[in-house]
Amino acid sequence: MASSLLRAFARTCAVVKRDQESIGAAVGRIPSGCAILTATHAGRSTGLLVSWVQQAAFEPMALSVCVKRGRPVEELIEGSSRFLINILGHHPAAMFKHFGKGFSLEEDAFAGLDIRTTEYGPLIESCIAHLGCSVMNKVPAGDHNLYIASVEAAGVVDGAAPYTHVRKSGYSY
Ligand SMILES: Cc1cc2nc3c(=O)[nH]c(=O)nc-3n(C[C@H](O)[C@H](O)[C@H](O)COP(=O)(O)O)c2cc1C
Repeated sequence: MASSLLRAFARTCAVVKRDQESIGAAVGRIPSGCAILTATHAGRSTGLLVSWVQQAAFEPMALSVCVKRGRPVEELIEGSSRFLINILGHHPAAMFKHFGKGFSLEEDAFAGLDIRTTEYGPLIESCIAHLGCSVMNKVPAGDHNLYIASVEAAGVVDGAAPYTHVRKSGYSY
């Protein structure tokens, strides 16, 4: 019995590859959405295109988001303990172009966009759902920081579907 279990385990290991390409391809098959994370603190605001966003709890309703360590937005998230997740709809090209390059805190990240000020961060009107979040915990995760936050306020555009993001490899966004 024990030896047949060991043989089955050995067979399983043989088909599970350990090289970077296989791991990247498999991780890339984890689907996500895309969103613009915005934050405001001490009169400064910015926005960041993020895909590593996921629900984390029912009670309290919570989500997690991963931010690469050292991004300027971290100063605002940590100063205010809040952020806003603006979920992208089916046609994300304009938002990808606008937020894909990253902004310093001195730049106006929202020039030309229709936005509303909120206590969590700028609300981007063209997005299909908005979640105002309050940070509960920050966990280091390799080269990223994982922020776990309760969802305190939200709004949704009725009937609008989110964009779905899949990648060739989990080693890039
Ligand atoms: C589709 C997509 C998803 C991204 N998701 C994240 C994310 O979840 N977390 C993060 O810290 N950066 C993420 N980024 C990177 C940021 O948007 C980044 O600011 C921008 O690409 C500029 O990157 P750079 O500062 O590395 O040049 C993503 C980028 C793209 C294109």
